[in-house]
Amino acid sequence: MKRIGVLTSGGDAPGMNACIRACVRTAHYLDMEIFGIERGYDGLIAGDIKQLGPRDVSDMVQRGGTLLRTARSKDFQTEEGFARAVAMMGNFKLEGLIVIGGNGSLAGAIDLKKAGVKVIGLPGTIDNDLPFTDFTIGFDTAVNTALWAISNVRDTSNAHERVTIIDVMGRECGDIAIYAAITGGAEIVLVPEIPIDLDDVCRNLIESRKRGKTSSIIIKAEGVDIDSNVLDAEITKRTGLDVKVVVLGYIQRGGSPTAADRLLASILGSKAACLLHDDISGVAVGQVGGKVVWPELEEAMSMKMASVNELDNLAKMLAI
Ligand code: F6P
Repeated sequence: MKRIGVLTSGGDAPGMNACIRACVRTAHYLDMEIFGIERGYDGLIAGDIKQLGPRDVSDMVQRGGTLLRTARSKDFQTEEGFARAVAMMGNFKLEGLIVIGGNGSLAGAIDLKKAGVKVIGLPGTIDNDLPFTDFTIGFDTAVNTALWAISNVRDTSNAHERVTIIDVMGRECGDIAIYAAITGGAEIVLVPEIPIDLDDVCRNLIESRKRGKTSSIIIKAEGVDIDSNVLDAEITKRTGLDVKVVVLGYIQRGGSPTAADRLLASILGSKAACLLHDDISGVAVGQVGGKVVWPELEEAMSMKMASVNELDNLAKMLAI
């Protein structure tokens, strides 16, 4: 291929800029023209498309957010919008497209593939909820941000001998919660993959006090089916302990990407451009066991997620 496009879609994730940079510079290295599409599929529909040179991505490797901006496009889900998006590929003579995003964005990439667009999907989301890759771009930074918050909360939690519930993102995936819990030394972690038992949570809190702990951190993933304030009220009622809630929210989506995220973004972005250059498309590019893999998009998205049980057990064991 000689002329390709790149877009970011869905929730932004730290490392998206490093990934765009890798796509752009690899494309130039391989003598391809590359175009940036603004605001995800919305920009493809509207034709908000501009050529990118190597200097357009200068000073970007360390930045959070996405220089192309992003959106969760409603229009793309309509027949008319989708048809316009496909037509725009032709209008701009784009032979291939790189989509950097999460679940919804890569589902959109599968639809484009079915419509004949030569597309490659890259995993860009903090949630780590894509089964074809060990880690998604942005996950490591989000965990580190959660970790920074846990450390701060631990100081004040200790000082007041409190229970603090830290509510983290992740949609239906508990990975941010469980990685942050293990590395941050949380007493309890609640993830959507494992049913929660409130009696058990309260018993653990009381028993940990008996073992000499004077404060407790609970990490709760957003996908867990109980609101953090309800959890706060229940724990307070059942244990009499002093409980506070901290919702991390969008703080986890921003910030300068970690080295791990920049490296992953660079490897996957560059590989996607190389594959399109060799006319290979219709795949998702990920990394499994340190090796870059590129299964067919449909197969990639229907793989089974890795179990969190082992890490959950580790978190419990280390919280004693
Ligand atoms: O997918 C990333 C994510 O931050 C999820 O963790 C969260 O559920 C969702 O996006 C929030 O989406 P929005 O930016 O549309 O509020």
